[in-house]
Amino acid sequence: MKRIVILISGRGSNMEAIVQRCAEQGWPAQVVAVIANRPQAGGLAWAAAQGITTQVVDHQAYAARAAFDDAMAAAIDAHRPDLVVLAGFMRVLGAGFVQHYADRLLNIHPSLLPVFPGLHTHRRALQAGCKAVGATVHFVTPELDHGPIVMQSVVPVRPGDDEHKLAARVLDTEHVIYPQAARWFVEGKLKVAGGIVTQSDHASQILI
Ligand code: GRF
Repeated sequence: MKRIVILISGRGSNMEAIVQRCAEQGWPAQVVAVIANRPQAGGLAWAAAQGITTQVVDHQAYAARAAFDDAMAAAIDAHRPDLVVLAGFMRVLGAGFVQHYADRLLNIHPSLLPVFPGLHTHRRALQAGCKAVGATVHFVTPELDHGPIVMQSVVPVRPGDDEHKLAARVLDTEHVIYPQAARWFVEGKLKVAGGIVTQSDHASQILI
């Protein structure tokens, strides 16, 4: 069984989706820990109620970013993960941390990367007049919101949409593509070559 550790900062709806699909679909994996950088992260209670080990590594307790990264890595490594999943984890992680988990660290970002890395993606998409938005699951590299793309979802922009409506529709798709990407990873079906991710069954890597 592959071991998955999930990092959250907030409500953890993507974490919930992954935990549920993992159990329902009988992945060759289990979520062995959920770790938050904020004690008030809403998803901790849900994870604990499922019997999953939860932990907090509070970033406010560390003056230096590197010290936080080291403490977080120590907490993660105690669970011997094959895969580390960032699910609404809102701290930038240093290059050393990212390197330590190279090729086994996934993130989801609510835009069609490489456009709109960073915050307020839906607002920026609306301001730019985009006709479609979406979400991207990618392997994490030291550059923020970059890295080889595993799967994307595409959501049309409708007349009257505001950033909250868009965010809600995109989030529904995140709950599909993130579990799918994690499942492929633990099944050993993802290959990365030259920065391009392929799926060994030639399954579609886009949800429209
Ligand atoms: C999601 O929109 C994700 O793409 C972004 O942060 C949000 C997290 O939501 N990185 P949740 O905590 O998984 O509910």
